[in-house]
Amino acid sequence: MSAAFPRRRFPEGTTVEDLRSYMEPFVRQLGYRFNDDEEFVAEVLGSEIEILDSAGDVYCPCRVRSGNPKEDLKIVCPCIPFYADQFAKLQKCWCGLFVRTDVEDGSELHGVIEVPEGPADVPVALADEFPPGTLRTVRLGKRDVALARVGDEFFALGNVCRHAFGPLGQGFLDGHTAVCPWHGWRYDVRDGTTDHPGADVATYPTSVRDGYVFITV
Ligand code: SF4
Ligand code: FES
Repeated sequence: MSAAFPRRRFPEGTTVEDLRSYMEPFVRQLGYRFNDDEEFVAEVLGSEIEILDSAGDVYCPCRVRSGNPKEDLKIVCPCIPFYADQFAKLQKCWCGLFVRTDVEDGSELHGVIEVPEGPADVPVALADEFPPGTLRTVRLGKRDVALARVGDEFFALGNVCRHAFGPLGQGFLDGHTAVCPWHGWRYDVRDGTTDHPGADVATYPTSVRDGYVFITV
């Protein structure tokens, strides 16, 4: 699930419904859905359309733009990939336009609130789309992580090979071993160890709920 928000210019006359249908499948992949409060959703998307007309893209209505186009890309809606760990703790995005799919009733989750301390489970993939034997790079907030499935178990480890920075998630699995695609260094997906001294990579706890694979950060 290394899905990135596809860049697209929304044509003139884009409606709330257009935005809804465009965003819905994308956020579902990330473990989110629209808030249950339909009126609130229509209000936020309506503001996004006004911003689209005045600023050229669907920037977040509850964040302040910096004026630096590169920086402001991080607040084009849906901004979930950029703030995945904070949103996982909040159970919602900053504005509350999107709530986690496992939230029972998201209608109370409006507005900007403080991010609680402590670990968070971040949804990174749909389990059904990740068959046994798969090794792939997934996005975890601002970093990439290699996610592996061996049988029914999921393992998450640092994506950067300690030899020459090869992308482990683009390698392949040999049992419980992730093999780097560049020069073949081998890492045990269970604990990140390799037989090259001092070159182990970090690992992260994983879990599966409601069809999503979560990484705890
Ligand atoms: S905080 Fe919510 S409404 Fe704002 S850009 Fe991010 S996803 Fe969209
Ligand atoms: S970069 Fe991974 S083996 Fe060389």
